[in-house]
Amino acid sequence: MADGTKDAGSSNQMWGGRFASGPDAIMEEINASIGFDKKLYAQDIRGSIAHATMLAKQGIISVEDKDKIVEGLNTILSEIREGRFEFSRKLEDIHMNIEARLAALIGPAAGRLHTARSRNDQVALDFRLWVKEEMGKTEAALTDLINALLDKAEEHADTVMPGFTHLQTAQPVTFGHHCMAYVEMFGRDRARVRHAIEHMDESPIGAAALAGTGFAIDRHMTAEALGFRGPTRNSIDTVSDRDFALEFLSVASICAVHLSRFAEEIVIWSTPQFGFIRLSDAFSTGSSIMPQKKNPDAAELVRAKTGRINGSLIALLTVMKGLPLAYSKDMQEDKEQVFDAAENLELAVAAMAGMVRDMTVRADRMRAAAGSGFSTATDLADWLVREAGLPFRDAHHVTGRAVAMAEAKGCDLADLSLEELQSIHASITDKVFDVLSVDASVASRTSFGGTAPSEVRKQIAWWRGRN
Ligand code: ARG
Repeated sequence: MADGTKDAGSSNQMWGGRFASGPDAIMEEINASIGFDKKLYAQDIRGSIAHATMLAKQGIISVEDKDKIVEGLNTILSEIREGRFEFSRKLEDIHMNIEARLAALIGPAAGRLHTARSRNDQVALDFRLWVKEEMGKTEAALTDLINALLDKAEEHADTVMPGFTHLQTAQPVTFGHHCMAYVEMFGRDRARVRHAIEHMDESPIGAAALAGTGFAIDRHMTAEALGFRGPTRNSIDTVSDRDFALEFLSVASICAVHLSRFAEEIVIWSTPQFGFIRLSDAFSTGSSIMPQKKNPDAAELVRAKTGRINGSLIALLTVMKGLPLAYSKDMQEDKEQVFDAAENLELAVAAMAGMVRDMTVRADRMRAAAGSGFSTATDLADWLVREAGLPFRDAHHVTGRAVAMAEAKGCDLADLSLEELQSIHASITDKVFDVLSVDASVASRTSFGGTAPSEVRKQIAWWRGRN
C-alpha cells in the first residue's frame, strides 16, 4: 500500500514479529485510536525530532540517520497539515502511522528512531504536550472573560440591583459587585490552570516502556528541547500517570460549574419577568412559532456544556481507578474525554465573554427591583443598633415588625411614616430615612470586599493590576 501498510490479514509491521495472522476486524476497531489521536500529530513529530536529535548527540544513532529522520518528519508534518497524509487504521495510532510513513520516505534509517523509546513514553509525552498547550489557551480565554467582566463591573460600579440569597431578595448590591464575584471565580480557575501547568511541566520521554533504558540517553536534553522544566523522576510512574489530564479535567469541571451558574443567572435575568439584562441579537435565537421570543440559547448551552465536561472527569477517573502499574491499554481512553472537554470549555468561555460584552444592562429595572422586597431591612436593624443602642437581636425583631406593617399596607419600608415607625419603636427618628434608600444602603457597605461602589472600584483596580 502507498502508506506503507500491509494488507488486511497480515500481522502488524511494527510489532507483528511473533504474530502469524492479523487482527480480527472487531479487534482492529476496538484497538485503533488513530480516529482521534491524529490530533497529536504535531506533538508526536516534535517529540520524535527531539528524541532523534538527542540520540545522535549521544552517539546512539549516526548524524546522517538523524538528519534523514528529521527531514522525513518535517515532510510528514507538511503532508498532514496540508491534508495529504493518508491515515491508516491498521496502523492503530498516530505514532505508528507516522513511523510507517517515515519508513516509506527514508527507508531503514526510520527503524532507528524508536531506539530507547516505547509508545508508552511517547504517548505520555505527546498527550502532555497537547494538554499543556491547551491549558495555555484556557488561561488566555479566561483572561479575556475576566477583562470583559472588569469592563462591565467598571461601567456598573454604581448600578444598584437586588442581591439574593435563596433567590429571594436579600440586600441591595451593585451590578458591578455581582460581576466582580465572577471575576473572583474565573480568577481562581485561571490560578488552578497555572498550577496544573506547573505540576505537569516534566518530560516523560526516555522512561521507555516502563523501566527506563540501557542506552546512554540524555533525558535532560530532551526535556529542555521540548520546553519542560526537567525530566520526570520515576519511569514506572511516568508511563502510568495521567494526573495531568485529570487535573485539566478537574480544573475544567470547576470552571464549567462557574460558567453554568453564571449562565443560569443570565437566563433568569433575561426573562421579561426579571428584565435585568437584554442579550444582544448576536447571542440569542428566535422561536419558529412564537414571534415575540428571544431565547438565551448561548447561555443555556454554556449551562449544558457542564454536563459533558464534568462527565469527562468522571469518565477518566473511572478509567484510571484500579489500574495496576504501569501502562495498560485502558489509558488510550483518556484522549477523547480530554479533547471533548477542552473543545467545549473553550467554546463556553468564549460564548460567555461574548455575552458579557454584548449584554445591555437595564439599570432602571434593577433599581426598581432593588428597592422592593424590603431589601433595606438589615439597614434599619443596623441603624437601631448604631443610633438607638439596641442589641442586634432586639433590633432584628423590631425591624421584623416594621416589615410586617409595610407588608400589610402594601408599601416598602421607606414609605412608612415616622409616626408609624415610632409606633413600633419610640427611639426611631427621621434620620432613619437616610439608610432606607438602596443607594444609602449600598454606599454604607464599605467593609473590605463589600458592595459599596468605592470598594468595588478598589477591587476592580486590584484585578486590573493582575490581568
Ligand atoms: N495508542 C496508544 C495509547 O493511546 C499508544 C500507546 C500504546 N502502547 C502499547 N504498549 N500498546 O495509549
